[in-house]
Amino acid sequence: MKILMVCLGNICRSPLAEGILKDKIKKAGLNWEVDSAGTSHYQTGIAPHKLSQKVARHNEIDICKHCCRQFTNEDMLKFDKIYVMDKDNYDEVKRISKELWDKDKVEMLMNEVYPNQNLEVPDPWYAGEDDYHKVYKMIDEACKKIVKAQALKGEGQFFY
Ligand code: 4NP
Repeated sequence: MKILMVCLGNICRSPLAEGILKDKIKKAGLNWEVDSAGTSHYQTGIAPHKLSQKVARHNEIDICKHCCRQFTNEDMLKFDKIYVMDKDNYDEVKRISKELWDKDKVEMLMNEVYPNQNLEVPDPWYAGEDDYHKVYKMIDEACKKIVKAQALKGEGQFFY
């Protein structure tokens, strides 16, 4: 299973989502590949936002080595599942993917917790540390659901 987490900058939300899901699949004993990307090129080549790194570290997850990159249409072929943080990300992934767009692969992340509601993980770019903790909590809940659903299918162990 190959999962890609996508936000706008690949600097705040999606590197956190990548780190959180990687931590959970490791604990669950799942051999999945997890990556993240942004729909923009604004932050290409740099490390995640310092507050995303801080909040991750607070939860014993290290995301400092991630290098921000832009989503490409080939990601649509490479990954089995692509989670987006908000509706703009969804529209941009669709636009960038062009003829490779596969609706069945793309899902709003929070639909894992609140099915079909299309709730967004808010962009914390202009926000303070508290908002990064709120974003962490939302993403953590969604990632728990992803791993739990897989465990219910008989693959991996769910510890929560
Ligand atoms: P992210 O947050 O999409 O969660 O990485 C943002 C990062 C950068 C910008 C906006 C949101 N920006 O405008 O540069």
